[in-house]
Amino acid sequence: MSLSLSADQPDVPADADEGVWLECIECGETFAPFADVRYTCDDCDGLLEVRYADLPTFDDFEGEGVWRYADALPFDDGVSIQEGATPLYEVPRLEDDVGVEALRIKHEGMNPTGSFKDRGMTVGVRVATELGVGRLACASTGNTSAALAAYGSRGGMETLVLLPAGKVAAGKIAQASLHGARILEVDGNFDACLDIVQELARQGEAYLLNSLNPFRLEGQKTIGLEILEGFLSDYGTVPDRIVLPVGNAGNTSALYKAFRELVQAGELDESDVPKLTGVQAEGAAPMVEAIQNGADEVRRWDDVETRATAIRIGNPVNAPKALPGIRETDGTAVSVSDERITEAQRDLASEGIGVEPASAASVAGLRKLRAEGIVADDERVACLTTGHLLKDPDAAAAAGRDSEPVPADTDGVLEYLRE
Ligand code: F0G
Repeated sequence: MSLSLSADQPDVPADADEGVWLECIECGETFAPFADVRYTCDDCDGLLEVRYADLPTFDDFEGEGVWRYADALPFDDGVSIQEGATPLYEVPRLEDDVGVEALRIKHEGMNPTGSFKDRGMTVGVRVATELGVGRLACASTGNTSAALAAYGSRGGMETLVLLPAGKVAAGKIAQASLHGARILEVDGNFDACLDIVQELARQGEAYLLNSLNPFRLEGQKTIGLEILEGFLSDYGTVPDRIVLPVGNAGNTSALYKAFRELVQAGELDESDVPKLTGVQAEGAAPMVEAIQNGADEVRRWDDVETRATAIRIGNPVNAPKALPGIRETDGTAVSVSDERITEAQRDLASEGIGVEPASAASVAGLRKLRAEGIVADDERVACLTTGHLLKDPDAAAAAGRDSEPVPADTDGVLEYLRE
């Protein structure tokens, strides 16, 4: 199987372009990477992966941010707004409270538009310039639309975003709007938006930059590379486990690909690969269902609901890449209630780290797995927080303290404070 951790480096096909090509994960068919616009396999409609004739070693990485890892990417540079190089925060109180050997928070909310999507867009929009397309599009629960709008405008391209009406957090819509995207509000959920935009892309109306696009996941691999380098530098070992929120399972797929490539390059032992552990909200947990049932395919959930609107997704399109990622690394998947998500959001906030609800799912999931004994007390763990608190100001205000009305004079304020 091409997605197994022990797969050999494939032979370079004739259609490779400077050592880069696309390969179908289902049937193995290969394609030239930049000759035509293509999102899935022509033959079997399977998901595509980017492959390289030469895989990099840690010594090849230089500089800062996503493009530090250029040797693991299809280009040397991209349409960039200085994405990546996000903090790997220590959280001593939370680490103690959860009860693990080490806990670090990789805060992707510290990217230029406030989410990890920037890492994928710097590569994806670069590919769009290579292909010479004029209009970019995505379906989105919000963050992808903000990143697409920002990177598309930086690249001088038109952008079109399809959003589920009434279900996107205010900060994200504000970003897409100011960065100049045309915002189409669809009377349906994210999965319906993705169905439509895929069809628009197929008809040549726009270049699709959802995570179905294999080039976006290349950029998102760098989250995994940064976490590994951070742990190696601070602890001398890679983390035992990486816990992350799951929507379309793009990050799960991307991190797994980063680790697979390091194993193939001889840079990482198969037995040291961090256990990929996915977390979904209870009201939108089709990946968790598939992992817990040992299923080969994920069942699409038509009705999904959660306060963590970023991961309000019932049909995770990258599941065929992500399921092997979780299983081959000995990871797992778990669902958490909205209440636990909000509590985890407060836990992180009490250590000074402001995240949106979907991000806090990682910490809520870690707590649950630790309580169940599935995560051991001697583990070193990285939790991924995917988006910034200000993305969803309404959720933050609802989770935080209420304002207190006071009179407009010092004595009145002092009296109130002493009550
Ligand atoms: N966390 C946040 C904050 C997100 O915005 C998303 C996805 C995820 C987690 C899930 O990541 O899809 O790689 O499993 N947001 C997409 C969007 C769907 O449109 O912004 P995944």
